[in-house]
Amino acid sequence: MGDIWSRPAGASTNNALDYWEYFGQRLVELADIGQGADVLDVGAGQGSSFFPEAKKVGPGGKVVGIELCRHCMGITFGKIKNQKLDNAWILNMDAGYMGFGNDTFDFALCGFVGWYYCFDFTAGRFTDEDIRAREIARVLKKGGKVGISSWARQDDIEWLDGMIRRYLNMDEPAEGELPGNDQLVYSKESKEGLEKILSAAGFRGIEILEETETFFSKNKETWWEQMRRVGWHDHFEKIKSKDKGSFEKLKVEVFEGLEHFREEDGIRFSKSVLFAFGTK
Ligand SMILES: C[S@@+](CC[C@H](N)C(=O)[O-])C[C@H]1O[C@@H](n2cnc3c(N)ncnc32)[C@H](O)[C@@H]1O
Repeated sequence: MGDIWSRPAGASTNNALDYWEYFGQRLVELADIGQGADVLDVGAGQGSSFFPEAKKVGPGGKVVGIELCRHCMGITFGKIKNQKLDNAWILNMDAGYMGFGNDTFDFALCGFVGWYYCFDFTAGRFTDEDIRAREIARVLKKGGKVGISSWARQDDIEWLDGMIRRYLNMDEPAEGELPGNDQLVYSKESKEGLEKILSAAGFRGIEILEETETFFSKNKETWWEQMRRVGWHDHFEKIKSKDKGSFEKLKVEVFEGLEHFREEDGIRFSKSVLFAFGTK
């Protein structure tokens, strides 16, 4: 577990969670999963919510994670083996086309997978058919619960996103235009959008809440390393492969920018997340 990020007030940096792990655990806590439940984790990634789910359901329950990215799956599979879990599985499967029967799971949690593929959050409307939410509804039992987490605001990422776009010569998508997948660095969603997505898929009792948390890193180098670790590695490598000099320039520019976020004991950023829940 990372020793870089911590909850703010006086938390020890040694046992700290990184921000994915923190919000993954929050999603599981808010979903109120009980012992013995059958849980589907959609886009399980490296397991920010998957492992807390496995702990929550206990030996009488089971957790199945699905993931498209083989690299992330390998990491999660390694952790399942290391922790000798016999109630958790990770499968290579597309959320839009799941190989499960109808009415299989009690819960389906979906952490930061993003709905931009079919929904324009700026215009507040669908741009394509939402096969993913429909599939989630299909595989949930009647009365089953869906939980989605989604970025509402990230101080540091919004600022870094603009910089990365500039170094990769990515154009900002025009107003109302969706970024292509290869162009996407960071996409924000909205309460209204998530509500439309869940209700269009037939979920009822929709509840959406927003939580903000502050994260801390000791200095600029630890912040930079953390960004690599939590998924910015590929963007950094792309810039480096284009021109090593411009990568070094980016780092200098980022470090100058970090001055705005510096406080007495290190660097602090706040991040806000939307949690959306609905019942089948
Ligand atoms: C931002 S990561 C979040 C991972 C994890 N849920 C978490 O909160 O840390 C989103 C993950 O969703 C996966 N993903 C995206 N679209 C998917 C799809 N259609 N089916 C399955 N996984 C998908 C991606 O490969 C990626 O690992």
